[in-house]
Amino acid sequence: MIRAPLALAALVFAVPAGAEIPPERTHAVGAAETVTAGSHMVVAAHPLAAEAGETVLAAGGSAADAAVAVQLVLGLVEPQSSGLGGGGFLLYWDAAGQELTAHDARETAPMAAAPDYWLEDGEPIGFWEAVIGGRSVGVPGTPKLLEDIHARHGRLPWAELFDDAIALAEEGFEVSPRMAASIADARALDRQAAARDYFLPEGAPLEEGARRANPAYAATLRLMREQGAAPFYTGAIARDIVAAVRADARPSLLTMADFAAYEVIERAPVCVGYRGDEVCGMGPPSSGGLTVGQMLGILERFDLPAMGPGMLAEHLFLEAGALAFADRDLYMADSDFVSMPEGLIDADYLRARARLIDPEAAMGAAAPGTPPWRDAAARHADDPRPRGGTTHFVIRDGHGDVVSATTTIEMGFGSRLMTNGFLLNNELTDFAFAPAGADGLVANRVEPGKRPRSSMAPTIVLRAGAPHLAIGSPGGANIIPYTARALIAILDWDMPLDEAVARPHLLNRNGPSFVEEGPGAAEMAAELAAMGHEVEVRDLNSGLHVMRISGDGLEGAADPRREGIAAGR
Ligand code: DON
Repeated sequence: MIRAPLALAALVFAVPAGAEIPPERTHAVGAAETVTAGSHMVVAAHPLAAEAGETVLAAGGSAADAAVAVQLVLGLVEPQSSGLGGGGFLLYWDAAGQELTAHDARETAPMAAAPDYWLEDGEPIGFWEAVIGGRSVGVPGTPKLLEDIHARHGRLPWAELFDDAIALAEEGFEVSPRMAASIADARALDRQAAARDYFLPEGAPLEEGARRANPAYAATLRLMREQGAAPFYTGAIARDIVAAVRADARPSLLTMADFAAYEVIERAPVCVGYRGDEVCGMGPPSSGGLTVGQMLGILERFDLPAMGPGMLAEHLFLEAGALAFADRDLYMADSDFVSMPEGLIDADYLRARARLIDPEAAMGAAAPGTPPWRDAAARHADDPRPRGGTTHFVIRDGHGDVVSATTTIEMGFGSRLMTNGFLLNNELTDFAFAPAGADGLVANRVEPGKRPRSSMAPTIVLRAGAPHLAIGSPGGANIIPYTARALIAILDWDMPLDEAVARPHLLNRNGPSFVEEGPGAAEMAAELAAMGHEVEVRDLNSGLHVMRISGDGLEGAADPRREGIAAGR
């Protein structure tokens, strides 16, 4: 354990003006609880969503069936974070086939988009200017994801998965404290009549405890129940979305052809060995699986299990984050458009990266490495500041299938534009704003039809070839360290799940080291500052949802920083 005198002068206790904007804020902190079950379980960000999924599982439904029910309810009761106007990534473990697949439902840029998409007079436009309005909207992937996953792995009829969502949308649901606080906090919710009338009825934000029906969403769900995802891509809903985004004062270039061309892409999961387990996640266009994989691959070189939690382990975790984000910012983007090194999670490469860590002192800014790469090309690193609502859920059915899914509309309330009862994403602000820099092109620049780089990291850990843990979180680029950190607490230190998700966050994305505000933060910050870390104490709003599957049954826990629960039997 490294002990150091307090060095308060080096600390910054508030987010400086102009610093990154958190995608969602923590509004309430509850108590975490580890819930157990025998056959099936859902952990999701809202009790009504978890219960809708549990009902489907109790009726013999698969994890895919439950994912549909959960997502449709989340889009109603946690509309600021995910929904039919957004996208996401889903990992599916098929127990019968003993196979893990990864599904990319990331939004796409218009075919008419060019690398100067976010430039005005040659300069990147302001972040909020970009977020709000039609131009930030990509073609949503979530409707097709739900249809695809049900077609492949569904056991119950599609129509039966809509009952809870339709009933809640028609009869009304109670606005949760977090939803009410998010509305009260949100800027520009009055930009467009549909969103204004829904979230600010009679000019005032919806209040906690108010009953809210969403008849437009109920009509959308009825249409989707009858016709599947087609109306969202070639029918009336696509036409409404295109009209809404093109009519905005900051108009979109999206056309019906962009919607007709949209596909959910099945991709190989990215897996890294970690102390005998296989940690599997989502590859490009997400940087999630590779960057979590890099952090774990670097940390595997240190004996964290023997070391236990403490400031030395925290320091190593922060340094691993800095090294991994240096590579992420330079190399990672939609690999259907840009070449990427093959060796980003190569064990020898990560061993060499781990040797750059001094256990006693912070390295400061980490330089990217040179992983094994056949097609090396000059690159310019992306602006590391995440321009960044999102949600994560995990499901295990009674047949052994498992889902780990992160879905999003990007910032809380997305682009602020609403059609047919759901909000439209602002995912295109996940692209780099400046397409090039002094060292060459930025890998994550806008290109026609490309998918913006994500940090979403839905994860399934395989032990002896079968799912042992399912985990993930919202939180913009912080998703990566939130997920890696919880994995270490559970896998290396055998921490109970509720403690692992509630533990204060420390993280580094190759910039300042962030320490989550709360009891003990000042002391930890001081110790880190003495090691040379530049420290910021701040709100860190994760939403870690985790499930462990073992011979003893199922255990699940929801992050106390949001409103989720684990529900199972
Ligand atoms: O894809 C991404 O990485 C971001 N659009 C996720 C944004 C997010 O997690 C916002 N959440 N709280």
